[in-house]
Amino acid sequence: MFTIRKYEEKDWAMVWEIMEPVFRAGVTYAYSPDITAAETRKVWIDAPKATFVCEDEANKVIGTYYIKPNQPGLGAHVCNCGYGVDENARGRGAASAMCRHSQETAVQSGFRAMQFNLVVSTNKGAIRLWKKHGFAVIGVLPEAFFHKERGFVDALVMYKQLCNAS
Ligand SMILES: CC(C)(COP(=O)(O)OP(=O)(O)OC[C@H]1O[C@@H](n2cnc3c(N)ncnc32)[C@H](O)[C@@H]1OP(=O)(O)O)[C@@H](O)C(=O)NCCC(=O)NCCS
Repeated sequence: MFTIRKYEEKDWAMVWEIMEPVFRAGVTYAYSPDITAAETRKVWIDAPKATFVCEDEANKVIGTYYIKPNQPGLGAHVCNCGYGVDENARGRGAASAMCRHSQETAVQSGFRAMQFNLVVSTNKGAIRLWKKHGFAVIGVLPEAFFHKERGFVDALVMYKQLCNAS
């Protein structure tokens, strides 16, 4: 149903089209709602270890995710991912497919766990989604996110071990 593949340069316009409204909304990611296309390229394409896109049956790019180490050096075996799905393509399982894919990518890349650092407490759909995929809520960061509409709200740290071998 979905094809998830590595980001290619030709995908940039669609990635920006998907992520611009997400960032402008200021309710799910900490990036400034005024973030530019160039800054988005840096954080979504250039800085991560890899970026992927999700295509639907019509080969339209409807989602994207990145994967990168969550910490340098001695914490680099834990990865961090960010996901976004086109507003018009939500609720069809694209994020679920990308979440599964990202976990496989993580294991293949040698990561042992995945951490989400700032899941906004009002982002109920995302929290439900990550829990469904086995992520645990490690803790609540009181008022750690400045929600564009609601002001200071809590954020969750979510974590999943992908490899339990010592
Ligand atoms: C969160 C997001 C990635 C989900 O993408 P999606 O493709 O719509 O998710 P899926 O279709 O795979 O949804 C899977 C599950 O999550 C639930 N879900 C997703 N969004 C939801 C919402 N807004 N409210 C309630 N449930 C939601 C679905 O009901 C579904 O659960 P089910 O299979 O038990 O019915 C998408 O809404 C998005 O891009 N949001 C903005 C960016 C963002 O929040 N990224 C994550 C930051 S932590």
